[in-house]
Amino acid sequence: MTQTEAPSYVDYSEYYDFAHFQKDDIPFFLDYARECGSPLLELACGTGRLIVPIAEAGYNITGIDLSAKMLSICRERVNRLGLSDRVSLVEANMTNFDLPEKQFALAYVPLRSFTHLFTQKDQLSCLHTTFAHLRPGGLFIVVVFALNFSVLAKDSEDSFRVLREFDLPDGNHVVQSQRFAKHDRAKQILYFEFKFEEKDRNGLMVRERTVPMDMRYTLRYELQLLMERAGFEVVDVFQDYEKRPFSGKYEIIMVGRKPNEK
Ligand SMILES: C[S@@+](CC[C@H](N)C(=O)[O-])C[C@H]1O[C@@H](n2cnc3c(N)ncnc32)[C@H](O)[C@@H]1O
Repeated sequence: MTQTEAPSYVDYSEYYDFAHFQKDDIPFFLDYARECGSPLLELACGTGRLIVPIAEAGYNITGIDLSAKMLSICRERVNRLGLSDRVSLVEANMTNFDLPEKQFALAYVPLRSFTHLFTQKDQLSCLHTTFAHLRPGGLFIVVVFALNFSVLAKDSEDSFRVLREFDLPDGNHVVQSQRFAKHDRAKQILYFEFKFEEKDRNGLMVRERTVPMDMRYTLRYELQLLMERAGFEVVDVFQDYEKRPFSGKYEIIMVGRKPNEK
């Protein structure tokens, strides 16, 4: 069967913007946009959490995503804000896309979306494909989580724990909880489940759903070797959006450069 939607996001795309209100990476990517200039490429752009501020700052950006639902929310938002001249949205897999533009100045795959690639073959395919879409000297930034090694000892958790609560525009209230469901050490995949319990203003359950949220962990030097194998020079590795050097904790924010032609 051909996969047309990223399974984890189809079932909660309408909650995504309330569950993922993170903003601390926006100035970081705006800084790189200033340094590199247009055009920009975001892999796995989702509902446009980052596309919008980047386009509002005047940059031309292409966003690709596997999920038609996430992209339709993004498209509606971009149109509503009058940004459609600067934004191009394409439904595609980040492992094998082919865009008419092959001279992007900056590409990035933020918010750990690269962890949704579950095999080294898919990871390399994403890195090679992105490399082919960059101009010489162009940058590619990959963000994945730094593995907390205590997780390696765990097999699973029985119960859900509450991650966050949020209100929807219609007044309904959602409790989002998470369970660590399975650990495949051979494949380096952590299988999580997100549960969303939506209640109306009177506290009556409107909907309850559980969706998978699986992530492959990649260590710092593993990621560096993959980037280098695809042709990138790794120029920086940060642990956070304040650009502190990588220390083993928080994120692995790896900045690769496509070498200039000799
Ligand atoms: C955590 S969200 C990130 C969205 C957005 N970049 C942000 O920062 O808010 C992950 C996104 O990855 C997309 N995705 C998962 N696998 C993908 C793939 N192989 N190719 C393209 N997009 C993918 C999902 O559809 C989802 O929109």
